[in-house]
Amino acid sequence: MDHKPKQARENWGSRFGFIMAAAGSAVGLGNIWRFPYLAGENGGGAFLLIYLAFIVFIGFSIMLAEQTMGRMSQLSAVGAYKSVSPRFSFIGVLGVLTAFFIMGFYPVVGGWASAYIVKSATGLLASQEAIPGIFGAFVSGSWEPILWMLGYMAVNIIIVSGGVKDGIEKAAKVMMPLLFILLGIIAIRSITLPGAGEGLRFLFVPDWSKVDGSTVLAALGQAFFSLSLGMGCMITFGSYLGKDENLPQNASLVVGLDTTVALLAALAIFPALFAFGMEPAQGPGLVFVVVPQIFASMGGILGTLLSILFFVALTLAALTSSVSLLEVVVAYLIDQHNFDRKKATIATGIVMATVAVFASLSMGVLSDFHILGANVFDFLDILTDKIFMAIGGALLAIVVGWFVRKEDLQNEITNGGAIKFGLFNIWYFLMKFVIPVAIGIVAVLGIAAVEQTGLMIFGLGLIAVLAIFSRKL
Ligand code: TRP
Repeated sequence: MDHKPKQARENWGSRFGFIMAAAGSAVGLGNIWRFPYLAGENGGGAFLLIYLAFIVFIGFSIMLAEQTMGRMSQLSAVGAYKSVSPRFSFIGVLGVLTAFFIMGFYPVVGGWASAYIVKSATGLLASQEAIPGIFGAFVSGSWEPILWMLGYMAVNIIIVSGGVKDGIEKAAKVMMPLLFILLGIIAIRSITLPGAGEGLRFLFVPDWSKVDGSTVLAALGQAFFSLSLGMGCMITFGSYLGKDENLPQNASLVVGLDTTVALLAALAIFPALFAFGMEPAQGPGLVFVVVPQIFASMGGILGTLLSILFFVALTLAALTSSVSLLEVVVAYLIDQHNFDRKKATIATGIVMATVAVFASLSMGVLSDFHILGANVFDFLDILTDKIFMAIGGALLAIVVGWFVRKEDLQNEITNGGAIKFGLFNIWYFLMKFVIPVAIGIVAVLGIAAVEQTGLMIFGLGLIAVLAIFSRKL
C-alpha cells in the first residue's frame, strides 16, 4: 500500500528517535515527583490499581487515537481538529491553554530538581534528620527557588528557540536510560532496607476505604498528565510519524515505558519511606525528602555521587517534558498566527516564567493568597489535571468516535491493511462509548467530592467560552 502524505512533512529521523521523543515527553516529573506523592496521599495500593486500569483502558486508547489523528491529518493539534470540523478547533486551543497553565508550575519543580544537583554536592546529605527541614526551608524561601526556576526556564527557551532535535535529543538518549538504571538501583536499595515490607504492603495491598470520587479523578488526571495526553501533544508527535510506522506498537511502547518508570519510582520511594518511619501523605516534597535520605543512608562519596546523578537525570527528564509543553504553545503561535520562532519562544517563555514566579512564591510568602480556594500552584495544577485534560480526552474520544469515519481510522491504524490490529473493534467501541461515559462519570463524582467547587465551575466555564469563540482563535 502506498500512502504518500499530501504535503512533504518533516519526519522523525528514526523510529528510535520518535519513541525517545514521545517517551521523553511522557516520562518526567509526572512519573517521579507527582505519581508517588499522589499515591501516598490517596492510600497507596487502591490508587495504584485504579491508575493502572485507567492507563490500560483509557490511556493506551487515547495515546493511539492522538497519534492516529496526527498522522492522518499531518497537522498539529489545532489544525488536526480543524480538519475534522472548524467547530472542533477549540479542543486544540484548549490544549494550548493547558500547556500554558502546566508551564506555570512545572518549571518551579524543575528548578527544585536542578537546585538539588548542587545541594547534593554541598552537604544536603550530611545528616538524614535534617533533610525534610532543608526542603521546607528551600521551597518556602523567595529568591532561591525563583532563581533556579528562572534558570530552568531559560534552558527551555534556549532549546525550543534553537530547535529540539540536536542537543536535547542527544542528552535524552543517554540520560533516560541512566535514569532508568538509577531508579533501579535506588529501588533495590529501598526494598532491602530493614522494615521495607510495610511499604510494599502499602503499595500493593489496596485499602478501598480510602477511595472516593476525588481519588478516582486524581488517578484519571494523573494517567493523562503522565502520558502527556488530552491536550494534543501526541497529535503533534504523530503528525511527524512516517506512514509505514506501526501505530499500535508505538503507542504500547510509550505507554509501557512511562508506566514502568512510574512503578519504579514508587518502588524506590515507599519501602524506604516506611523503613525510615515517615508519613506517606506528605505532598509535593515526597521525592525531595525520601530519595536524599536513601542516599544519605548509603553514606560517603557513593551516596553523594548517586544523588548528584539522580537529580541530573531527574532534571533532564523534566526538561524533555517541559520543552514539549513549551513547543505546543510555540508551534501554535507559529502555525496559526505566523509568529517567528524565536520571538514566539521568548515571549511565551517570559509569560510562563512570570506565572511561575507566583506559583513558586505560593509555597512561601504567598501561601495565603488564594484564587477560588486554591493557592497559585494548586490552582494551575487542579485546573489542568482535574479538568482540562480529562475533558480534553473525552472530547478527543467523542470526535474520533463520532465524527471521523470508522473506515478511515481502520485504514490509518493498519497502514491500509498492511499491519494487523486485532483489537481495533474493541478500541473503537471504547472510544465511541466507554471513554466519554467513563470520563463523564469520573468528572461528576470527582467534582462533587473535591473541595474547590468554584474552581471546577470556573474551569468548565472557560472551556465553554473557548468553544463559543473558537473560530476567532
Ligand atoms: N508527561 C509529562 C510528565 O509526566 C508532563 C507533560 C509533558 C505533559 N507534556 C505534556 C502533560 C502534555 C500533559 C500534556 O512529567
